[in-house]
Amino acid sequence: SRPFTEVALFSVSSYACQRRTTLDNHNSNLTDALSLLAENAELSNEDGRGVAFRRAAALLKALPTQVISMSQLRGLPCLGEHSLRVIKDVLENGVSSEVESTKQSKRYKALKILTGIFGVGAKTADRWIREGIYNLEQLRDSGQTLNRAQKAGLEHYDDLNEPVTKAEADAIGEIVQKAVNSVLPGSEVALTGGFRRGKLTGHDVDFLITHPEEGKEVGLMPKVVAWLESQKTTRNSYLESKDGPARPASNMDRFERCFSIFKLTKRKEQETASHKIWRAVRVDLVVSPISQFAFAVLGWTGSKLFERELRRWAGHEKNMSLSSHALFDNTQNKYLRATSEEEIFAYLGLEYIPPSERNA
Ligand code: CTP
Ligand code: MN
Ligand code: MN
Ligand code: MN
Repeated sequence: SRPFTEVALFSVSSYACQRRTTLDNHNSNLTDALSLLAENAELSNEDGRGVAFRRAAALLKALPTQVISMSQLRGLPCLGEHSLRVIKDVLENGVSSEVESTKQSKRYKALKILTGIFGVGAKTADRWIREGIYNLEQLRDSGQTLNRAQKAGLEHYDDLNEPVTKAEADAIGEIVQKAVNSVLPGSEVALTGGFRRGKLTGHDVDFLITHPEEGKEVGLMPKVVAWLESQKTTRNSYLESKDGPARPASNMDRFERCFSIFKLTKRKEQETASHKIWRAVRVDLVVSPISQFAFAVLGWTGSKLFERELRRWAGHEKNMSLSSHALFDNTQNKYLRATSEEEIFAYLGLEYIPPSERNA
């Protein structure tokens, strides 16, 4: 038997897709700190650093109890030198000095505010900052040309930065269902993203749309958007959307998609002092052919790190390539068909992890 130790030692798999990560996080003091540094790295186009912090945070989220001493972390994977330094700082001082100084930095604050605008990414925000734009007022005064999505993003800034509740997600789901069934009866709508993982709030609501007959779904998105456009005057409806990129980046999937804003009419008791009777909500719609549906559901359920780890596992451990469209086995030189997420995990030699345990 093991010698008595004051603190239990954890044993944790190195890939997040091998672990069961629920929303029940016993180390949020540490994961909040690491997530903020990850976010700052991502907003600064330092993807490698961002992933390293995300992996460290994900590992801590998977631990069954709260970490109180550095000795508990000995031998654990995913914890690089930098992350360990941050953890040590939080354990010893209650806060990380690097996190605190990042939070206070003019650049981080500006990046947060500017990328909080729908349609504004890290690149645009960085360009504006170099032109001396640090907040919404300076942006409005600058005379910068904004595209349609960004204009809507600025107009509905407060609404879109207010978390979406599950009840609101369900209300949006009803509209989407109605729209899809009006333009193509028999279509199916699946809730994906954070709400499928059991989160109680989200920054948006994600839906995947398909039709049981292969090919019927082609051209569905423009029809759904046109239907939604025609219903703009109703209580709950579509408001605006961001055009997808003309040619998707190589790391993106090629599904028909619509990153949009919907309008939700508030119930009487939710009306605020401003007398605004509706609010704007971000909604992502994606259409997949039925033959790719299982891969699309898996790819759009997240979390983002869980997805990244699944693809890394597939490539490094199985010599396979996983995307939101398909799984290709490089050894057998063939695509592996699947009609359920369970089958995909099985091909990958992984224990099935249900959505509620993919909160890495
Ligand atoms: N996704 C994607 N391609 C994009 C955007 C998102 O494949 N261009 C996927 C992500 O990998 C993730 C899922 O869509 O698996 C949901 O992304 P997102 O809505 O950003 O995150 P959530 O996990 O839903 O978190 P939140 O509650 O903040 O919305
Ligand atoms: Mn627990
Ligand atoms: Mn989401
Ligand atoms: Mn989304």
